[in-house]
Amino acid sequence: MKERIFVENINVGYLEKEIILYGFIESIRKLGSLTFFYLRDGTGKVQAFFNKENLDEKTYNTVEKLRVENIVRMKGILKERPKDQQLRITKGEYEIEGSQLTLLVQGDVPPFEIEKLDSINESIRDKYRYFALRNEKIHNKIVFRSKITQYIREYFYSKDYLEIETPYLIKSTPEGARDFIVPSRNFKGKFYALAQSPQLLKQLLMGSGFEKYFQIARCFRDEDLRSDRQPEFTQLDMERAFIEKDEIFEEIESMFSYIFKRLDLKLELPFERMTYDDALEKYASDKPDLRNPLLIENYNIHFKNIEVNFIQDKLRNNENIRGICTNKLFSRSQIKKIEGLLKKQGSSGLLTLSKDNDEFNFTLGKFVDEKFYESFSLNNNETIFFQVGKNNENILNFLRHYLGEQLGSSKEDFRFLWVVDFPLFEEDGSGGYKASHHPFTSPIDIPAFMGKEEFSHIPSKAYDLVLNGSELASGSIRINDLAVQKKVFDVLGMNEELQNNRFGFFLDAMKFGLPPHGGIALGIARIAAMLLGDTSIKDFIAFPKTTSGACPLTNSPSNVSRDQLDDLGLEIGRKNGN
Ligand code: AMO
Repeated sequence: MKERIFVENINVGYLEKEIILYGFIESIRKLGSLTFFYLRDGTGKVQAFFNKENLDEKTYNTVEKLRVENIVRMKGILKERPKDQQLRITKGEYEIEGSQLTLLVQGDVPPFEIEKLDSINESIRDKYRYFALRNEKIHNKIVFRSKITQYIREYFYSKDYLEIETPYLIKSTPEGARDFIVPSRNFKGKFYALAQSPQLLKQLLMGSGFEKYFQIARCFRDEDLRSDRQPEFTQLDMERAFIEKDEIFEEIESMFSYIFKRLDLKLELPFERMTYDDALEKYASDKPDLRNPLLIENYNIHFKNIEVNFIQDKLRNNENIRGICTNKLFSRSQIKKIEGLLKKQGSSGLLTLSKDNDEFNFTLGKFVDEKFYESFSLNNNETIFFQVGKNNENILNFLRHYLGEQLGSSKEDFRFLWVVDFPLFEEDGSGGYKASHHPFTSPIDIPAFMGKEEFSHIPSKAYDLVLNGSELASGSIRINDLAVQKKVFDVLGMNEELQNNRFGFFLDAMKFGLPPHGGIALGIARIAAMLLGDTSIKDFIAFPKTTSGACPLTNSPSNVSRDQLDDLGLEIGRKNGN
């Protein structure tokens, strides 16, 4: 196929010359003696046509029976399309007048037209994923992701990192999600787990003297899926010995700067930083979208003296009155609608205060006086939306997003943000604690932590990288002191036996000494999706799972044979059906 030309390489140099292309047929249209279609190869689309009147008999017959998605070789002369008739496809300025057409493969009629993919039911698209991938939009997303991976590798190799693989079949060491477990044939009744991330192994590599490690690693987590979560996904995983947080930030910023340069995009460095506490206070989210300028404020002090029982009860009950001030007036029906939406998020109601032509309008206007209004220094045409409650971040976050959209916050910029000083632990809802990041994260102040008995507010050396409201990465400086590690396990409710059973190998390595170290992991599909302004990662993965974790293409998960189960010494219990 030496003479072959790829669509992306078509250029003026070939005008009025004969060229040969290979690819798929898309969108056939017949107009009198002309048959038009797009010829699509792995690099793009170009329009082609055959004029029946000029064809030899063989080519004539082939053109006549041509169907969409047939796979062909074609020969023809490259022509320029008139300026005002250029098509909105890769090579819309050209077309090819075909002279020869060879049908290489004529498959069955496809289940849907590739260019009409958007209107096709998701379950059909997923079943015939290989067809969906032919769609230019999805194809380009896969290409884009591949480029991102390429640039990441280029960057880390240029900085003398070693790419080291760690096993996927490991011991079950849950990091937060459920493990996928894999039965062993040689050790009947025992199981491997599929690695949730290379976390412990990359830490061990630091102990082995590989100071600059990275890996493009597949991770497996049996967790509930969302549009930005898949049960198997790929991370850029990195770890360094003898490093502090700032150096990791600089490295990742410099990596993004390289990626942006390769993509011809502009990037401002350094990225902004915010503490976890500030993020929750001002944005009600640990992944704030900074493109939205609205801030959340605490208005407790303004309400301290108003004579409304339910407000005073709530304040006494340590609930807060937090709100968002907007420079816009809203109609009664708009406010009703917002209240309805907030209620769906679990809110008990909405209070608003606005100023129009020097007149105040407050939901509880009957119960307040001038002093109350004056305390706000509100400008004309401003409205404050209040929420009363405790731990109601999801509601405030929803409100901030909703109002941001109403006010038209920018969708264009890339607003990167480091969120730092995450708490070490979170309450687990049953009187105990769980790790906020993972149990290998170092507290900021180790002596203070070792002396504490109250663990709910201990700041850690964990950080996230957020882009436009989406978490791209998480990382931390790790614990490298056995006593601290054991105390963390202790707080998490793991007794000595469980610690040794689950993490004995790791605690042993710590006994022999791990250098100070830290690292980070970035979700590659999330980076690709966010850079193209997409919130779903699904189309950045060639063969993704559905939200229930199934693969309609291969029909998995599926049953296995009796023999396979016997080999593994397994019996399917009644609990699981079958
Ligand atoms: P974490 O669990 O936060 O950290 O994951 C790091 C990043 O991986 C991406 N990610 C996912 N992408 C798609 N589907 C998922 N189910 C999914 N889960 C996570 C996100 C996330 O920010 N071992 C630590 C990292 C470290 O401390 O170095 C870890 O895995 O972009």
